[in-house]
Amino acid sequence: MQAGQHPPKKSDLLKALDLLKEEVIPAIADVRSQNELEALRVRYLGRKGKLTAVLRSIKDLSEDERRRIGQRANVLKQELTNAFAERIEGFQEKPKTSYIDVTLPGRRRHLGRKHPLTIVTNRIVEIFVGMGFEEYLGPEIETDWYNFEALNIPEGHPARGEMFGNFYLPGGLLLRSHTSPMQIRVMENTEPPVRIIVPGRTYRRDAFDASHSPVFYQLEGLYVDEGVSFADLKGTLQRFSKELFGEGVTTKLRPSYFPFTEPSAELIVSCVRCNGEGCKVCAHTGWLELGGCGIVHPQVLRNVGYDYERYTGYAFGLGIERLAMIRYGIDDIRRFYANDLRFLDQFSEI
Ligand code: PHE
Repeated sequence: MQAGQHPPKKSDLLKALDLLKEEVIPAIADVRSQNELEALRVRYLGRKGKLTAVLRSIKDLSEDERRRIGQRANVLKQELTNAFAERIEGFQEKPKTSYIDVTLPGRRRHLGRKHPLTIVTNRIVEIFVGMGFEEYLGPEIETDWYNFEALNIPEGHPARGEMFGNFYLPGGLLLRSHTSPMQIRVMENTEPPVRIIVPGRTYRRDAFDASHSPVFYQLEGLYVDEGVSFADLKGTLQRFSKELFGEGVTTKLRPSYFPFTEPSAELIVSCVRCNGEGCKVCAHTGWLELGGCGIVHPQVLRNVGYDYERYTGYAFGLGIERLAMIRYGIDDIRRFYANDLRFLDQFSEI
């Protein structure tokens, strides 16, 4: 206490506290910014603030007064502290409803794509369905009967091992080495006319190099009816080739051999890269091989209980990777199986 000053009176202090409260509460409500609020808080509750001054002077009171007024002052201090804190929250509160900033650039979503083999398979199926063929799918695990026997490839026939190195499973089963077993499965259950295509995965004990894969895809075709001829086969494959590669391609059937067709042929088309001139893609021959085909062997028709005097048919088996490689100009079959997104991202519907 400084000289010349009277000790504060109890009633003065209580009054001062009341006045303070009357001043501050509306002032807190009136501030328009967080800065103003802070300035106000310092003015009352800061080290040199008005309430702080009152609290300091309490120490000069008698013990009894000190306790009672001190209590009132502390209550007020707490009230004001709370009021400031509440008001600060009001300023800091985020707007309740979020809104969309339409000027922000959009977020790019990475969409998956169809695998090039899927795209090509879908296109091939679409072409044949357009010509009246029906799509079937079959099992990848086959019996000896469907994969060989019924297709006129008896035990000991060189075609069993020579044409297809096979993956055998326990119990006389094997992973199908071609989609031709589905010819048998469908004919067994259907009366002619039969006009089907069967895309699917096939397996052979081949090397995994630029042009071979132990797992690959084929598309089987079969048409059996009265009077089906080799000319029908040629016309159908010609139409198909032009649909897939463009009207400019020339098709040829080159003599070949399969136990389940007679006569048998190899479907070849003029090279789509060099137009028959000779280039790397066609190994300088001007021609590309697409698959095997032929007239269904009468023994095969007999094996499924068809009247082979009345019905004839043709069949074909196309290599899907081969078609895709030619269509897109891909030089290595392994690219289809490497799952490299830089490769896979380049293909869209055809
Ligand atoms: N299945 C034969 C192969 O995989 C292709 C083929 C199918 C040939 C139908 C003639 C008829 O090589």
